Amino acid sequence: MNTQAVPDVSGEFDFSDAQFKVIAQLAYENFGLDLQPAKRSLVYSRLTRRLRALRLPNFKSYLDLLTGPDGAAEQSEMLSALTTNVTHFFREKHHFDQFRDLILPEAIKSARNGGRVRFWSAGCSAGQEPYSIAMCVLEACPDAARYDIRILATDVDPVILARAKAGLYLSEERDSLPADHKDRMTIAADRPGEFTLVPEVKNLVQFGLLNLVKEWPVRGPFQAIFCRNVAIYFDKLTQARLWSRFAPLLETEGMLFIGHSERISGPAISLFNSTGITSYRRNAQKAEMTSKTEISR
Ligand SMILES: C[S@@+](CC[C@H](N)C(=O)[O-])C[C@H]1O[C@@H](n2cnc3c(N)ncnc32)[C@H](O)[C@@H]1O
Repeated sequence: MNTQAVPDVSGEFDFSDAQFKVIAQLAYENFGLDLQPAKRSLVYSRLTRRLRALRLPNFKSYLDLLTGPDGAAEQSEMLSALTTNVTHFFREKHHFDQFRDLILPEAIKSARNGGRVRFWSAGCSAGQEPYSIAMCVLEACPDAARYDIRILATDVDPVILARAKAGLYLSEERDSLPADHKDRMTIAADRPGEFTLVPEVKNLVQFGLLNLVKEWPVRGPFQAIFCRNVAIYFDKLTQARLWSRFAPLLETEGMLFIGHSERISGPAISLFNSTGITSYRRNAQKAEMTSKTEISR
């Protein structure tokens, strides 16, 4: 964490250097968020909304709440306020093309022969990413439900995860789907102006709450991991740790897809081979296969 002087911001509530530092420390320890001093104005403006919503008189009361016995729920709200959930169906389409061409043929062959196939959308936000993966799977394997194929979709934010599970989206979003997917994989929702995915798509996805900087109660190996536009909030050290933790969870030929402005850095570079823009294959010689059992770190 950077400890340089914090630029002053003034406004409706007093917000001292010390208070900013406590929040930055909490956000770093609990969620890996890298809140440099330059982010102070953003932190102030995002969190004053929380103060108003909670009718708190000042940042001291807010810090008391965050660090008190019921702090966990508000820490999660704080993370939500400080990060974005922006996502959409088939975001960075080239990743889904690679997934379809380089991963799915073997994975489906394995599933048809009784194999276990797992994909992970880590930091899934409102669900468009895992449902896009599911649509690719169904397109390549219309009878996927008969096989042991699952998409694990996790996020640290319980509110966004509940939205992902519900899988309700505004009709405009449907326009971003390929034409045949629109027809075959979506249905109108009960509420006008909304749509949802057909049960065959939804049933392939399992959602779970998971903080990427804490323990991971997941069981590999995964044939592909999508962790996109999440590590962007982390500092270099946390990012490097994250990439290193993914490698042993991937199957020998497994792939990792990361966000458009993210790069694999640090010692983790040797664990992967680049296969294109922000996509990587596990370097089987370097990454140890420890994923047959549940991992603790
Ligand atoms: C910008 S969205 C990315 C969604 C999707 N992966 C995509 O690329 O479209 C970032 C997501 O990361 C989640 N996130 C942030 N910090 C996290 C952490 N420590 N562990 C797990 N998820 C986290 C946020 O809750 C948010 O839903």
